[in-house]
Amino acid sequence: MGQKLKGVILGAGHFADIQLEAWQSVQGAEMKGILSRTKKNAEVLAQKYGLQVYDDFDQMILDIQPDFVDVCTPPDVHLHYTILSADRGIPVLCQKPVAPSLEESEALVQYCLDRKVPLMINENWRWQGWYREIKNMIDQGMLGKVYHTYFAMRPGDGWGNDPYPVQPFFKDMKQFLIYETGVHWIDTFRYLFGEIRSVYCQIRKINSVVAGEDLAIIHFDFRNGMTGIYDANRTTYMEEVRSPAYGWMTLEGTEGKLRLEQDGRIYYTPRGGLEKEHAYTIPPGWKGGCAIATQQHFIDGLLKGISYESSGPEYLKTVRVVYACYESARQNQVVHLEE
Ligand SMILES: NC(=O)c1ccc[n+]([C@@H]2O[C@H](COP(=O)([O-])OP(=O)(O)OC[C@H]3O[C@@H](n4cnc5c(N)ncnc54)[C@H](O)[C@@H]3O)[C@@H](O)[C@H]2O)c1
Repeated sequence: MGQKLKGVILGAGHFADIQLEAWQSVQGAEMKGILSRTKKNAEVLAQKYGLQVYDDFDQMILDIQPDFVDVCTPPDVHLHYTILSADRGIPVLCQKPVAPSLEESEALVQYCLDRKVPLMINENWRWQGWYREIKNMIDQGMLGKVYHTYFAMRPGDGWGNDPYPVQPFFKDMKQFLIYETGVHWIDTFRYLFGEIRSVYCQIRKINSVVAGEDLAIIHFDFRNGMTGIYDANRTTYMEEVRSPAYGWMTLEGTEGKLRLEQDGRIYYTPRGGLEKEHAYTIPPGWKGGCAIATQQHFIDGLLKGISYESSGPEYLKTVRVVYACYESARQNQVVHLEE
């Protein structure tokens, strides 16, 4: 392997650790520096992963001359750091949610487009090994024409006075469940089933200590004629909290059906046959290897020029569905997405 691309990461919180762990398995890249508002945490991660800690963005760029920036801060500073990086011509891997509003998300994407700076939104859910396998099964025709899907999302971590111990800031988010978490399923549904024509969404707050919604039911109408339901809450008691798949899923088609279990295992039933576990290997790493696969996709794009599944313009399609869901909930009406 030739020279590796050099990266720096911004943020040293819950997800920076998962990112950095995954970067160690990515071919063609290595992380060199870290900058975070919480310097103490940055020092811990720097020690763990052999990085240089910085207080100053420009100094970090000057010293390391990175080939890319991994933005892993909360969304309110994604635009700020994307501008700083794009102004210096440095490619950006930016965490979801892109930004706190649709307008700011569009501005972030446009900023990189105008400067021809590569941007990939770090949307890793669609890269979970079980979704890649389900996509293969659909493409091989094992389900025939898929006409219905259902996902029950139940991480079970949002109850009590101190919900979401891993990410306590969830409690204060005014738009929470769809904006922060449901966005992953909207994007994964787009990956598996194509574009969404309209949504009907209802939201509720079950745990009164949280600011935003912690329950959502979204009815999707896909352009290919399929129907989908995302039935999500984080409050229902679960024996296993935050299971690998965060819940369970069914897909129904003309030639067969399947279900995805919380541990990532897939069970398949052909029409007229018996249900059997579908044999496949779940890739190692966090949530079916999805962080590694997403980061590898980003690096492959830089090294081999392949286009990103979650490029800025592509991912804005997901973001627009998020805001259509909130609009539908507000109006209590079906909201149509523009073609
Ligand atoms: N893709 C996924 O699966 C996934 C999972 C969890 C979180 N995320 C996303 O990752 C991002 C970070 O989430 P998290 O859970 O790690 O949050 P966190 O609060 O645990 O960590 C955020 C980090 O950013 C730092 N930070 C905040 N403002 C900063 C600034 N102006 N400059 C430098 N550093 C700053 C904080 O000090 C902290 O170290 C969010 O966008 C979140 O939605 C993605």
